[in-house]
Amino acid sequence: MLHAIDHAGIAVADLEATVAFYRDVLGMALVHRETLPAQGVRAALLDVGESHVELLEPLDAEGGVARFLARRGPGLHHLAYRVHDIDAALASLSAAGMRLIDERPRTGIRGSRVAFLHPSAAGGVLTELVQPAEHN
Ligand code: CO
Repeated sequence: MLHAIDHAGIAVADLEATVAFYRDVLGMALVHRETLPAQGVRAALLDVGESHVELLEPLDAEGGVARFLARRGPGLHHLAYRVHDIDAALASLSAAGMRLIDERPRTGIRGSRVAFLHPSAAGGVLTELVQPAEHN
């Protein structure tokens, strides 16, 4: 069902400074930028092998990433796994009694379809499923 780690989502207070670190010091290619108003973030995606690092800076004081930053400071926010069929994956997890944040997929970065599982159902880790858009 899950076939790769798609990305690590990292909450940052200063997107440009953090992009510069990942790109210039760690040598990752910056491949995408997007503002996601529904999630209250400005995001940047960098490639590492077949996986990505997703940097998330809050747009305002509302939203999950803003609350995470206020409570815990910058750091690892969620872990995302790639799936071929997110509808089937959610149905299977729901049938297994797993607590879901998203009962249905929503639109994520780069036109992907994403859904979050509740951290209490995943060992304390906020977990995201990602079905990439076809062209990715
Ligand atoms: Co993510």
